[in-house]
Amino acid sequence: MQFFENLADDEWEWYIGKLYTNIFMECFSINNINSVVELAPGFRYKIAYALKDIKFCGMIYVIDENKNVCEYIKDKYSKILPMATVVVINESFENSIKHLPKQIDLFVSNHSLDDMIISKYFTYTKNNQTSQNDFVLAWDSLAKNPKIYNHIIKGVYNSFIKFFNKISIKYVAIAQYESNLYFKNKTNNIKKITQKCFEKVKYLVDEDKNKIKLALNYYPFGEDKRYLGKELLSNTQNAKNWIVGEVKRQ
Ligand SMILES: C[S@@+](CC[C@H](N)C(=O)[O-])C[C@H]1O[C@@H](n2cnc3c(N)ncnc32)[C@H](O)[C@@H]1O
Repeated sequence: MQFFENLADDEWEWYIGKLYTNIFMECFSINNINSVVELAPGFRYKIAYALKDIKFCGMIYVIDENKNVCEYIKDKYSKILPMATVVVINESFENSIKHLPKQIDLFVSNHSLDDMIISKYFTYTKNNQTSQNDFVLAWDSLAKNPKIYNHIIKGVYNSFIKFFNKISIKYVAIAQYESNLYFKNKTNNIKKITQKCFEKVKYLVDEDKNKIKLALNYYPFGEDKRYLGKELLSNTQNAKNWIVGEVKRQ
């Protein structure tokens, strides 16, 4: 899948990174986090900022199927986290297991479920997405095919089950807030389809909802109006859009 926009907004990376910092500190015992696996960062570095905040100096394994992303991440994360060891795994989530240790303290992934779903649809339709408009059209086309999206959702969910069965993970932190395409009224099909997958993955994790709410009750920008709108309070800072806790033992 192609990327139509590579530039990160550093303030946004910092802000979401802070939410992860709070989640790590409120919900986990951070002294026990020595190994981390991150799935699908894209050209983004929120998680590196959060790990820097907790003075992480262990091993971080970063999985992304895009080779350019892996090169970018190796360089960027090594600069943000000079005390940590950064290992990039240029594989799909499904094929990454063999490159990882059998035990990892923390699994983290920010806003990746939608990309995992739509990139599978792009592969299925042999579409080589080039613009944001192609992306919106793809979601709208997928929404018309419940049989296909249910099949894709099941595949993504099964890859989480397999991953959590093969690798002993202690903590999980996944955020899946609504994308700004939703707020720009471009499509609400991302939300509709991704939510189904999100609820299934959420079921795999034992959560302490009060701790999550406490961690997200955070207003670093004071009265700045951009950060007090519904896009944040009911979205990025809404505990419903997070999966945080320990993997359920089956
Ligand atoms: C836009 S990024 C995700 C959002 C980003 N983490 C953030 O914080 O804004 C999407 C990334 O997911 C990766 N990706 C999609 N499906 C994947 C899969 N099955 N396995 C590994 N990486 C995948 C893509 O290569 C891309 O780099």
